[in-house]
Amino acid sequence: MSKVLDKLNEQMNFEYESAYIYKQMAMYADDIDLPGFAHWLNAQSREEIEHAEKMLDFLQDVGYEAKLTGMSEPKADYENIEEVVKTAFDHEKEVTRRINEIADLAREEDKRVYSFIQWYIDEQVEEEANFDQLTTRLERINGNWSGLYILDGELKHR
Ligand code: FEO
Repeated sequence: MSKVLDKLNEQMNFEYESAYIYKQMAMYADDIDLPGFAHWLNAQSREEIEHAEKMLDFLQDVGYEAKLTGMSEPKADYENIEEVVKTAFDHEKEVTRRINEIADLAREEDKRVYSFIQWYIDEQVEEEANFDQLTTRLERINGNWSGLYILDGELKHR
């Protein structure tokens, strides 16, 4: 039994769950007629699946029997797009916390995982920066619809 590989399996599931959460957010954005945000969140959702599958490949390579677990129903009712982005940003901070925890554990227990998880540490810098920037831009727009539509138009090109 390897505690660190169990943690990685747990994280793989959390990455799939992240995809599910962002997909529901994309559907919400689509419902409120912000197709750029929907496109951006759909891309984010697909990225999370890639993160999970990269972990799955690794777990299989080291001979671990990876398992999928159940996940919670994602939140679907948001007040506005600002709440979506804030929730997503908080979610990414939680992902970072969990990745760091795995890295700390792996440093002593399993050098293979320690090396593997470095990519995710770097990736989280980018993930948090994306949501941080979006949060700042939404704060500046301050609920102004014309500003929101300009931003929405930009997000279509992710
Ligand atoms: Fe896979 Fe957005 O962290």
